[in-house]
Amino acid sequence: MNTIILASLLVLLVSLTEIHGEFIKMCYYSAWAAYRDGDQALKPEDVDAHHCTHLALAYGTIDASGKRVKFPDVFEDMHLPERMNSLRDHNEDLNMVLSVGGWMMDSEAWSNMLVLGIPYYGRSFRLQNPNMTMPGAPALGPGSDGGEGIPVNKICHLIRGGVQEQYIPEQKVPYFVMGDEWVGFDNLRSVREKAMLVASNHLGGVALWTLDQDDHRGVCGEKWSITFEVIHGLGRAEYVDYVAAKQESLRTLINHKIVHTSKEIGYYSDVQNSTMAARKEAELEQLQNDLATLQDQQQKQWMQVQRSATLGGKAIPPLDQPSWKL
Ligand SMILES: *[C@@H]1O[C@H](CO)[C@@H](O)[C@H](O)[C@H]1NC(C)=O
Ligand SMILES: *[C@@H]1O[C@H](CO)[C@@H](O)[C@H](O)[C@H]1NC(C)=O
Repeated sequence: MNTIILASLLVLLVSLTEIHGEFIKMCYYSAWAAYRDGDQALKPEDVDAHHCTHLALAYGTIDASGKRVKFPDVFEDMHLPERMNSLRDHNEDLNMVLSVGGWMMDSEAWSNMLVLGIPYYGRSFRLQNPNMTMPGAPALGPGSDGGEGIPVNKICHLIRGGVQEQYIPEQKVPYFVMGDEWVGFDNLRSVREKAMLVASNHLGGVALWTLDQDDHRGVCGEKWSITFEVIHGLGRAEYVDYVAAKQESLRTLINHKIVHTSKEIGYYSDVQNSTMAARKEAELEQLQNDLATLQDQQQKQWMQVQRSATLGGKAIPPLDQPSWKL
């Protein structure tokens, strides 16, 4: 299934809708994301609505008439479209896209913005001769992943377990050899390099394939470490924008609750229900305390982000250390 999809991912034609911030961040969410094992499963609600400018559901199909896009049954069964759409409560600028076979369907006009695909997975090959492991060595075909790809959130465990990494300088990507298997993959450094390439060549943005394959639970390091590295690579402003938007949406959430609770107090006072009015007063006070605490934390975080941005932003992960350490 992967051949066409992956080929078309490398360079995509994306239709532009309203975009805030400089770069498109097209995040793919695959239908099977919620079905992955244990730590790897990613529910739509656990996607960070501020990581992306576009959220693409992969994949829809086109019906026999060639005019209507159809969701796979699994999307409907899990109410995925609605659940993804509710992420817009956190980021109203988030564009929802249905991805059809690796191409974007959108009602807006088409525009040819180049978007660089950044894979969140490795590719495994069975070596013809385990003694010949250089890039370009003959392979018999796919390795143990059967051509499906190995998520970064699995590869990180192998590296932490001591698998030795090699590096291909021309492509700026790592690989490793395990027995007769050769695995090329991306790490924090290589996705950073790719994002920097997008920024320095003024490309349209990045396509992140797929969110659920990132270490989104922070099992091998920081939560969402690959996605954050991409954001840092796109430029200091992108990360500062991310933090600003994220902070605002967290404040908005509490402020909405404060408004709601104040209305409830008004209502219960009007109907002279003093028990409930008093309970809601206590809730309001708690919310106001929460907001004050949050604002305090956010101010500190904001100062750190500003200071770091002035100093050139987050350091690029070093080449001479394992991609993930225990
Ligand atoms: C790989 O190298 C080892 C040690 O030099 C040798 O014994 C073995 O026959 C080689 N395997 C192949 C498939 O060439
Ligand atoms: C006050 O409101 C609560 C919740 O609606 C209700 O259960 C309770 O009976 C009310 N008390 C009085 C005194 O009206």
